Amino acid sequence: RALSGPAGDDAHDGDGDGVLRRMTALLAYGSADPADPACAAHLHCPPLAVAVAADLAASALNPSLDSWDQAPAATELETLLLEELAGLVGYPAGAAGVVTSGGTESNLMGLMLARDQVLGRATGRPIQLSGVPGGGPPPRIFASAAAHFSVRRSAALLGLGEEAVVSVPVDHDLRMVPEALAAALRDSAGRGELPVAVVATAGTTDTGAIDPLETCAELAAEHGAWLHVDAAYGGGALLSDRLAPLVSGIELADSVSLDWHKLGWQPVAAGVFLVRRSETYESLSRRAAYLNPADDEEAGYPSLLGRSLRTTRRADAFKIAVTLRTLGRDGLGRLVDACHDLARAGAGAVRAHPRLELHADPVLTAFLFRYLPGDPALADRVNAGLRRRLLREGRAVVGRTELPGEGPGRVRLKLTLLNPHTTTGEVERLVRTVAAAGQAEEDAL
Ligand SMILES: Cc1ncc(COP(=O)(O)O)c(C=O)c1O
Repeated sequence: RALSGPAGDDAHDGDGDGVLRRMTALLAYGSADPADPACAAHLHCPPLAVAVAADLAASALNPSLDSWDQAPAATELETLLLEELAGLVGYPAGAAGVVTSGGTESNLMGLMLARDQVLGRATGRPIQLSGVPGGGPPPRIFASAAAHFSVRRSAALLGLGEEAVVSVPVDHDLRMVPEALAAALRDSAGRGELPVAVVATAGTTDTGAIDPLETCAELAAEHGAWLHVDAAYGGGALLSDRLAPLVSGIELADSVSLDWHKLGWQPVAAGVFLVRRSETYESLSRRAAYLNPADDEEAGYPSLLGRSLRTTRRADAFKIAVTLRTLGRDGLGRLVDACHDLARAGAGAVRAHPRLELHADPVLTAFLFRYLPGDPALADRVNAGLRRRLLREGRAVVGRTELPGEGPGRVRLKLTLLNPHTTTGEVERLVRTVAAAGQAEEDAL
């Protein structure tokens, strides 16, 4: 029914409380609850209550970060938060950043600054003014075959074309093979191409694999390319003493994506983009007379307009800051460790089950596996079908993906454990539920 009928008809109830209650009930009824132990498909976390409350306060106060006069406190707070997060990444003084809508926007920003810096240097012209030049050496971006699809989409948006992205092979765990990156860069240089950026993923979407960050940094520097680390998922490891060593080398990146709505328990959206040297932001800075006049800035009214691709922008920094203040790095680190433990327990249950096959041990909080039907030729069909069966029956939300490559046999199921309050017993039950659905699917064929 139409949502906007005239007051008094049965589609429109003028009583705001009643409408809110009924529509919230409908939304809840039709939602996938990320707090449910059987809802474990995606990097989609149950938000912390304190973060939800902070988000509501930010919504009610509605500061907008495109100018100081719309958001004096929020501007100051976001600046302080980003300084703290830059420290967490290990950046020296002089870093800068912005709160974004998520990894997609952060990756776009990293590759945009890479394009402007590297292509600008090569052509001697500011790319933000002249656009991507025709002719000249073809620009290239090197990312693993398991990198997030937003890397290719960014290349398209930035006028480089998706074909500018060179897919670097990965190993069994979906981690970039360092020798393959070295060879790809060498071959590309041999063809006279321009290496604009290396994208290293710290925490691939499917397996949480972490590319060899230090080698990526060395190779990028050797070839004059920008290093962007997509730590949208694995950035959460920085919160945990146990897992932080996995992402060492992240501080060598020219830019980093972090996502607090993944392993940070924030309501969507809570992305973060950081650059090591604030001067590399230059090509994004804009002067809009009505938002950030130079005389205001000189008089001590700073603006974050030149940090973001957006103009009007929510104070998403507020909930992250409140969460950090409330739980501290230690408190958040314990949540990360709890989810890591759950993933290991889940992987153990898969390994122990005769009809399930674990793809690889979890690095962070996710792992891939599949059900093994009697007839191996049916594996993809049975696994894809069992996931839909679980959805249809309302029993579980399990991820489904495909390993990189060609041909059959690549469909895998995925569990992403992001609720630290889930118990080991609940994860083991979920694994048994998946196996039983596999059997039912096989029987139904
Ligand atoms: C590694 C990685 N990068 C980027 C993204 C995109 O992040 P967002 O959905 O916040 O835009 C994802 C999403 O899952 C991801 O896993």
